[in-house]
Amino acid sequence: MMAKRNIIITGGAGFIGSHVVRLFVNKYPEYKIINLDKLTYAGNLANLKDVENKPNYQFVRMDICDFEAFYDLMQREKIDGIIHLAAESHVDRSIKDPFTFAKTNVMGTLSLLQAAKLYWESLPEKYEGKRFYHISTDEVYGALKMNHPEGVEPPFKTVASSEGHKAYGDEFFYETTKYNPHSPYSASKASSDHFVRAFHDTYGMPTIVTNCSNNYGPYQFPEKLIPLFINNIRHRKPLPVYGKGENVRDWLYVEDHARAIDLIFHEGKVAETYNIGGFNEWKNIDLIQVMIKTVDRILGNPEGHSLDLITYVTDRLGHDARYAIDSTKLQQELGWEPSLQFEEGIEKTVRWYLDNQEWMDNVTSGDYMTYYEQMYDNR
Ligand code: NAD
Ligand code: DAU
Repeated sequence: MMAKRNIIITGGAGFIGSHVVRLFVNKYPEYKIINLDKLTYAGNLANLKDVENKPNYQFVRMDICDFEAFYDLMQREKIDGIIHLAAESHVDRSIKDPFTFAKTNVMGTLSLLQAAKLYWESLPEKYEGKRFYHISTDEVYGALKMNHPEGVEPPFKTVASSEGHKAYGDEFFYETTKYNPHSPYSASKASSDHFVRAFHDTYGMPTIVTNCSNNYGPYQFPEKLIPLFINNIRHRKPLPVYGKGENVRDWLYVEDHARAIDLIFHEGKVAETYNIGGFNEWKNIDLIQVMIKTVDRILGNPEGHSLDLITYVTDRLGHDARYAIDSTKLQQELGWEPSLQFEEGIEKTVRWYLDNQEWMDNVTSGDYMTYYEQMYDNR
């Protein structure tokens, strides 16, 4: 029987957070799971309709920068675990508005750390049985070179866990890779990672940091490549490919990330860093072709019907060439591995967005924001 725990999951109304909340609420009926979210444009409680009435689930609308309110909540609910996902998460937005990223991602994280420190240090058992788990990104490591030699067939790298892996270079991000963030988003995430580690090194707080590759799957806000393009293909809108579409991203199905978070929260070693990724690199343009093919097939369009939607546009400023995570440590030390092959994951994802047009329409029209503004601000 699992010990009872009182956990706050920040950013639980967002894309990854909603999958983590769902997993924890269903798997741990004896826990109290508090979803703490400000409900920015990216937060949507409709992502959690299937668990919102469960007795072990509670939603609290709060800004992570609100130190006093967070401290009070920790005290009131006797919180012993924090899984921190709340963040501004979109690189393009960070290029336009870096201040919001510094405020939420850096100051917000610091505010949570300081409140947790004050509360936990006030307890007789102090940090015993406590955990502050910070969810971060592979983008903090910078960008890798694309130096896959011509004519070399995959697998390019020959460690057991990456068998069959198609790599676009011989470098990977390891837990020991030096931080080298480029975008305002990744700079803000890197800064927050450093603060989390500083709270372990300085005060002895039991922290863990994980750095994950690009996630895909249901409930992702359609500013990100995969949901945006699936929706545009469906509505025969242009597909804005940045630059030449040659950049490489390493994709992981979101439920596999959520399973890794569950495992690491419970079994990960304090003060450790774990990289999370599925050894699944794709050039953007190749991935876009797969999405076009899949959507066209499911909608019954002739093959190649939507290829004319591809529109090459000005590149993202400072666009990182390639990300590729090595998650061997997590696989070997904790026994995690991705459950889905990419072909299966992308098929599931395309079908989900096509089957959930109402969710997509609400998100793109902003109706859900109006609904929740009324519901939570007028109480
Ligand atoms: P998202 O943008 O979909 O969701 C972010 C959530 O945080 C939203 O619900 C939003 O309302 C909430 N939020 C934002 N500012 C807040 C604030 N000040 N106070 C309280 N809540 C606030 O993001 P996501 O893609 O689900 O990413 C979640 C976390 O995982 C982020 O920390 C991100 O850096 C990290 N991450 C994301 C990916 C990815 O591919 N999406 C990969 C690796 C790591
Ligand atoms: O690597 C992890 C990161 O992955 C997370 O930390 C971020 O929160 C998450 O947003 C994601 O960042 P990316 O910038 O890689 O994701 P995005 O979906 O914005 O873009 C994926 C790739 O597609 C990238 O090379 C840019 C390109 N792109 C994106 C959009 C939105 C396009 O070519 N056209 C587009 O319209």
